[in-house]
Amino acid sequence: YEVDWDASAAEKGGWDSFMDKEIHEEPAAVQRTLFGRLDEDGNINLDEVHIDEHDFKAVDKIIVIGCGTASYAGMVAKYAIEHWVRIPVEVELAHEFRYRDPILTPRTLVVAISQSGETMDTLMALRHAREQGSKVLAICNTQGASIPRESDAVLYTHAGPEVAVASTKAFVAQITAAYILGLYLAQLKGAVFRDEIHQTLDSLKAMPQKIQWVLDTQPPRVARAAEQLADANSFLFLGRHVGYPVALEGALKLKEIAYTFTEGFAAGELKHGPIALVDEGEPVVFIVPPERGRNILHAKVISGIEEVKARGAFIIAVAEEGDKDVERYADIIFWRPQCPTLMSPLVDVVPLQLLAMDMAKQKGYDVDKPRNLAKSVTVE
Ligand code: AGP
Repeated sequence: YEVDWDASAAEKGGWDSFMDKEIHEEPAAVQRTLFGRLDEDGNINLDEVHIDEHDFKAVDKIIVIGCGTASYAGMVAKYAIEHWVRIPVEVELAHEFRYRDPILTPRTLVVAISQSGETMDTLMALRHAREQGSKVLAICNTQGASIPRESDAVLYTHAGPEVAVASTKAFVAQITAAYILGLYLAQLKGAVFRDEIHQTLDSLKAMPQKIQWVLDTQPPRVARAAEQLADANSFLFLGRHVGYPVALEGALKLKEIAYTFTEGFAAGELKHGPIALVDEGEPVVFIVPPERGRNILHAKVISGIEEVKARGAFIIAVAEEGDKDVERYADIIFWRPQCPTLMSPLVDVVPLQLLAMDMAKQKGYDVDKPRNLAKSVTVE
């Protein structure tokens, strides 16, 4: 009797790739990032961050810096933090930031988001911010890496080690950490009623279960879609509000591991140019906002779907369970369970990650180690 033992398979915990394993760890990544930061009364406690409350209270602008997926997590956070804290949040690609003489003051909080903590572009950008006298808070997944070491404060994401080059569980953990920061600032500045903060935290606490629901129910649909779309040469991804960065992230995943040409747009831009790309059979992925009937953006995205459908596009939608408007037009639907708009990126990204992974597998590519890419980019 021989046991066929393979160390790499053991590390993958039974999954056939790290990417698959890491996507399935997303509920735990959100849960771990969230729970250590709530005290018994359900308030956010960020003592670990070691930034003086007065300094936090004085913050009058936030600039989020990061690259790739981390920058998209920052874009999601902008919608939430501006809504909760009522201070301006800018999001900038780290490699652009330092070369354009950004306006930085001691009251600017720079938030550097990085999974690896070693991305040189982000490191150089944070050094620049500190030289100009701004405080830098890192949101990082890797204990003791250069970015957290060189920052004034750190909020670690507890996603666990991410091995696959394509970032997945780190993205949802980064959004969770940035939301905690936003809600903490709202709590400190008294910008939002305590009840509203608690309600939002309740919604956030419910997200691991909702991600789990997606993982339990949607993979067969995604696998069928990947089969159907295996020969597609290009994809468009469209979303509005927090669905916009999710569209960008979905497009990036498909580029980096399935080597497919993709473009992500804000759905409102469609009529300003990109609709010219839509031809018979072109796959177009729409992130449809939740809260049908109550969210004005829902109707707007549906009318975008009608526009491209009329031009023969093949519609793939990520939408709330039972969304009848979407059922009318979409060729393929990945369902999300009900959740508030600001929480939707945490679930909406999951089928898009799975789609990229399944398409890459269909084509016989190594999903964990795509060509030309490294897990951490340590050169500028
Ligand atoms: C995402 O799938 C990428 N591989 C890449 O965009 C990555 O998110 C980016 O290089 C930033 O990395 P970091 O989070 O380690 O700083």
